[in-house]
Amino acid sequence: MAEEQLRIRKAKVADARPIHKMLMDCARDGLLLPRSFHDLYRHLREFYVVVSPEGEVHGCCALSIAWEDLAEIRSLVIGGHIQRRGWGRKLVDACLSEALTLGIYRVLTLTYQVEFFKRMGFIEVSKDIVPQKMWADCLNCPKFPECDETAMILDL
Ligand SMILES: CC(C)(COP(=O)(O)OP(=O)(O)OC[C@H]1O[C@@H](n2cnc3c(N)ncnc32)[C@H](O)[C@@H]1OP(=O)(O)O)[C@@H](O)C(=O)NCCC(=O)NCCS
Repeated sequence: MAEEQLRIRKAKVADARPIHKMLMDCARDGLLLPRSFHDLYRHLREFYVVVSPEGEVHGCCALSIAWEDLAEIRSLVIGGHIQRRGWGRKLVDACLSEALTLGIYRVLTLTYQVEFFKRMGFIEVSKDIVPQKMWADCLNCPKFPECDETAMILDL
């Protein structure tokens, strides 16, 4: 795989299976929450992917509208072989641009990757500010209600 040939684009339906595999591999390591195929297909339009010209998926990230003035960055994974080369930043930037396009100026994430998101300009906040609506996803989390992720916010 020639890294200079990788690019970022919106996800296509054919990306759902490789995205699912990346998320499940990461979930097994406890780095993020697993997502079902059902959930993934319903939310596929929220995803950006890092892909090779052959269509192999090497990274993914989703921007989900949480409320009238809040979006959430979810399901961010960069393949181990291309980590620390700027692809995570590029995916997050793509999501932040989309938030601006949508007219949403506050973006939240629940994460274990505090240092990475600090680099992206996010700051740690209390989980109390996470809208109740978003806790619907948390009900399906194996860790609920003992969430050990950190809530982080970026005001655009
Ligand atoms: C966290 C993750 C998405 C970062 O993506 P990445 O492509 O490796 O990160 P980038 O190369 O874009 O890094 C951007 C900046 O963050 C820093 N950074 C990245 N990962 C970091 C980490 N774990 N700790 C501290 N800094 C980190 C980089 O050094 C870089 O700093 P710079 O601005 O000074 O150059 C990636 O490591 C990953 O997929 N990890 C496993 C899954 C995971 O935990 N996902 C997050 C779920 S919310």
